[in-house]
Amino acid sequence: MIAANTNSIDCLIVPAIPPARVKKNASLSEPLKLGILASGSGSNFEVIAQAIQNQQLNAQVQVLIYNNPEAKAAARAEKYGIPSILLNHRDCKSREELDAKIVKNFQEHDVEWVIMAGWMRIVTQVLLDAFPDKVVNIHPSLLPSFPGIRSVEQALKAGVKITGCTVHIARLEVDSGPILMQAAVPLLPDDTAETLHARIQVQEHKIMVGAIALIADRPTDKNVP
Ligand code: GAR
Repeated sequence: MIAANTNSIDCLIVPAIPPARVKKNASLSEPLKLGILASGSGSNFEVIAQAIQNQQLNAQVQVLIYNNPEAKAAARAEKYGIPSILLNHRDCKSREELDAKIVKNFQEHDVEWVIMAGWMRIVTQVLLDAFPDKVVNIHPSLLPSFPGIRSVEQALKAGVKITGCTVHIARLEVDSGPILMQAAVPLLPDDTAETLHARIQVQEHKIMVGAIALIADRPTDKNVP
């Protein structure tokens, strides 16, 4: 029997080749204008807001849009003085209608990049066409493994020894698109979905900020790795 001390492996974070901003003549000092989409707790949104406040990120959050009236993300926005807008998907007849409202609000707030920070709605071409190659998603698995819902449970059920999280440019297919950054998280013998997700979230918070830094710090004419 081989005794493996998984506790000695914290995580492994791997960035892609730095992407860049589409905007022509962008200067390094110009902050990236972000529009955030969140559905729940908003911890990933808050690490972005914190990193901006600590001047770790050359960016500003123009507005938070949330789709669930119960989302704790709204209170986090208030704490940072960031405007927030509730767009309840239940008030929309289709996914496209919700995305059209999102686009309108983001355009009104001069948003340049869209960050889906725990956004639990399926994105449509309406949003992707309005912000080409500038919609970013975070997902709690090492994509392309375990896309879709309950990714942490999927990893546990599959019996993998390593899972993790991914930040990527969003494409129409759920949880697909060019990868910006990933972090690997080993499973521990007694893991439940809750304990594993909690450790994945620690790494999510690092790669979320890291991926936005890649985008913010490298203005060139190509934005996809
Ligand atoms: C995060 O774990 C994120 O990866 C996941 O929702 C959680 C949101 O947490 N997103 C998805 O599953 C999207 N496919 P947060 O609200 O505390 O940032």
